Amino acid sequence: MNQPADSAGVERAVAKGLAGQRVRIGLVGCGVVGTGILRLLRDNAETIEARLGAPIEVVGIAVRDPSKLRDPLVPAELVGTDPMALATQDDVDVVVEVMGGLDPAGAVVKEALEKGKHVVTANKALIAEEGETLLEMAESTGVDLYFEAAVAGGIPIIRVLREALASDRVVALSGIVNGTSNYILSRMTSAGLDFADALAEAQAKGYAEADPTLDINGGDARHKLAILATLAFGARVDVHAIPMEGIDTVSALDIAFASRFGYVIKPLAIGRPTDDGELDLRVHPALIPESSVLASIHGALNAVHIEGAMLGPSLMSGPGAGALPTAMSVVSDIVDVGRNLITGAHARVPSRAFRGSTLQALPLASPKSHRGRFYLRFDVHDRTGVLGKIANVLGGFDVSIEQMVQEGGQSEGNPHATLVMLTHVASAGDVHGALEEIDRLQYTTGPSRALRIEEG
Ligand code: NAP
Ligand code: HSE
Repeated sequence: MNQPADSAGVERAVAKGLAGQRVRIGLVGCGVVGTGILRLLRDNAETIEARLGAPIEVVGIAVRDPSKLRDPLVPAELVGTDPMALATQDDVDVVVEVMGGLDPAGAVVKEALEKGKHVVTANKALIAEEGETLLEMAESTGVDLYFEAAVAGGIPIIRVLREALASDRVVALSGIVNGTSNYILSRMTSAGLDFADALAEAQAKGYAEADPTLDINGGDARHKLAILATLAFGARVDVHAIPMEGIDTVSALDIAFASRFGYVIKPLAIGRPTDDGELDLRVHPALIPESSVLASIHGALNAVHIEGAMLGPSLMSGPGAGALPTAMSVVSDIVDVGRNLITGAHARVPSRAFRGSTLQALPLASPKSHRGRFYLRFDVHDRTGVLGKIANVLGGFDVSIEQMVQEGGQSEGNPHATLVMLTHVASAGDVHGALEEIDRLQYTTGPSRALRIEEG
């Protein structure tokens, strides 16, 4: 058995009766991330022990189907099917939940916290939906509940917000926080793949959620934005109240038109306090200038742009999904918990960056009140007067056109045409009101499309 490496750590560990001990983990889930954790623990064992002062030992693994073919590095003798047993077992110091979903993950984490065990999780759905209860439980019992891997995979954004920016006020954040949707749009843009093929690739690479609907419809990014908003703005956030749009309505046609105007389409998550004391939180795809920093974040990379009142602008980018980057974040959390075990420093840093008693339930800005420029696409019968009618409706809603192109139509021997417009600044409520009317009056052959333009 290895001894803790650092001498001061050894002294404190001896004082606490921890000398010679290992940090013993129960691994709840052993899929993409769980297997990545085992690989990282094997390949980086030496450096981890040198940094932590004790080795990390896996004492049990819970999966759903033990008969599944697994990577040979998964020790078959440790594999069982009872996550709850790991949450209660005496020889587990840290429960590592990489199973995903709310049920039974929530009950397992609760049980672990009740039993005084520390928990590390990569589960953004759980932290966004039930984090308030769980984190309060952890705070009141003085155990650690860490979740670095829950947002932006391998990017240490949670630690940055919690610790590095502890003296600043965050005035805005924006970013790409879902690797799968960024991967899909990137592959559709760069390789001309269709949506289904790009999604299949992202799934094969281990980026997607077990149910990829959450990646595609914005649900996963919304979970992450809710977590970021709490850490950045000290806000209690009802995740379900955050407006979201997915990338499922972005077509290859939109990507091509955006490019003609000098834009790329990216899946964004945006948060900022407004002057009226509200929080503007949104998840949606948007056109951003090809020259902007987020435009160069391709594939499963993520990036989070933070504007600190004192710091100014700052960008962190890196792998947002995948086995090893995610495992790296999980194991760094385990190292942190291990250091706290050795020094007895649990809960020194509040998990949510702010003391729980100071968190505020700020009202969310209505998505209709958002003002900005828009990309609009209309599929129409190419008949005299249609363009004028559409322009009239837009004008009636105070939506003014800045640029327009038409493709297809009778001049090209086609009865249908596609009209694409970029607007001047308008309110989202007006734009959607105008589009509803245009579609209702049947000036179009299919639903009209609006995407926001963010200036990047
Ligand atoms: P995954 O590949 O689907 O693995 C899930 C694991 O949990 C599997 O081993 C599965 O068992 C096990 N499991 C599921 N339900 C169970 C149950 N009721 N009882 C016991 N075991 C159960 O998922 P993943 O991609 O590793 O993701 C795990 C978590 O990490 C999720 O919360 C996800 O959001 C998060 N995350 C993933 C990534 C990524 O890039 N993949 C990045 C950041 C965060 P079987 O093996 O028998 O099916
Ligand atoms: N499915 C998630 C994504 C995993 O694609 O971003 C990382 O949280």
